[in-house]
Amino acid sequence: MIFNCELKKVVDDSYEIEIGHGLQEKLINDLKNGLTGKKKFAVVTDSIVEGLYGRDIYERILGAGFKADLFVIPECEKSKTRAMKEFVEDSMLEKGYRRDCAVIAVGGGVVTDLAGFVAGTFGRGVPFVNYATTLLAAADASVGGKTAVDTPLATNLIGIFNQPEKVYLDIDTWKTLPEVQIASGLAETIKHGCLGDAELFEYLEKNVEKIFAGDVAACEYIAEHNCNVKYRVVMNDERESGLREVLNLGHTVGRAVETVSDYKLFHGEAVAIGLVAQAELGKKLGYISAENCDRVIKLLERAKLPVRVPEYVDKKVLVKKLYTDKKVRDGKLRFVFQKEIGSVMQFGDNNFAKEIAEAEIAEIIEKM
Ligand code: GLY
Repeated sequence: MIFNCELKKVVDDSYEIEIGHGLQEKLINDLKNGLTGKKKFAVVTDSIVEGLYGRDIYERILGAGFKADLFVIPECEKSKTRAMKEFVEDSMLEKGYRRDCAVIAVGGGVVTDLAGFVAGTFGRGVPFVNYATTLLAAADASVGGKTAVDTPLATNLIGIFNQPEKVYLDIDTWKTLPEVQIASGLAETIKHGCLGDAELFEYLEKNVEKIFAGDVAACEYIAEHNCNVKYRVVMNDERESGLREVLNLGHTVGRAVETVSDYKLFHGEAVAIGLVAQAELGKKLGYISAENCDRVIKLLERAKLPVRVPEYVDKKVLVKKLYTDKKVRDGKLRFVFQKEIGSVMQFGDNNFAKEIAEAEIAEIIEKM
């Protein structure tokens, strides 16, 4: 006997990204207006952001008459683990959280990636909201619905696509970021310029120092342009069946060097090294001119990002680590390449990544 379980779905996962300054009260109002449909909130934050924004948001939620608890994870990339996910989940269960709640992530990429993943599996899924407090989260992590944890083998290997109810990009929070965090966020911003927005790239060439100085117009400009590039890509390929791989520009070497550095490199710093690697290899393969390749490297340097593999990283181990990349197919390395500035190479129908022999990339890494 065959029982036909017909289960066609029409899903509307649309959500708003609100860009602004001091959006805490906006969040509270949205919660009052039923943004998540829930009245009980698990506020997930990290040990640094707790004192800056997390506890404040938690107290505002309580002040609005809702139930809430604060769940704090240690601040560092190494918190993005299955063990930490379990810790948050068990803490929520102990406090009586069931399906009647929503998760509010307040923090950078580690918090939004982890909390979004928790929300996606807690009670088989509860709504979540991202309140992004870093440039990196605003540029990439909190937008687009990718949630994940790292494993000892590599970053982001275990996770789900899970879209938030809303994302708040509070530009005022960038004021409390250390310089290295601004630089890290700029790496993803430069990546967006390289792959899909020549105007953004040129703007950064003229104004990158203004971001470090906290210039309001410049910060608003990059926040908006980052969202625009990501939206154009994610809207057309949410589940990364092809096009979304372009957002992986610089991440093949980037993710590998981040893991091999044992997270001494911040994510954006690792991505900067990865962007240089793809540009150098792209130059050799004729995808980018020597002049544009230099422009990429110069802009990364001005954004206070590393453009060489650190001395302490074993380059042979790094090359082997490339095989943990999610784009690997049939055991072959695949790379995304920028096409000059503001576009990407396409290698066939819905294929934006090219197979690269280990020796080709090993030669580039050796020189970096
Ligand atoms: N950070 C890559 C993506 O969102 O697809």
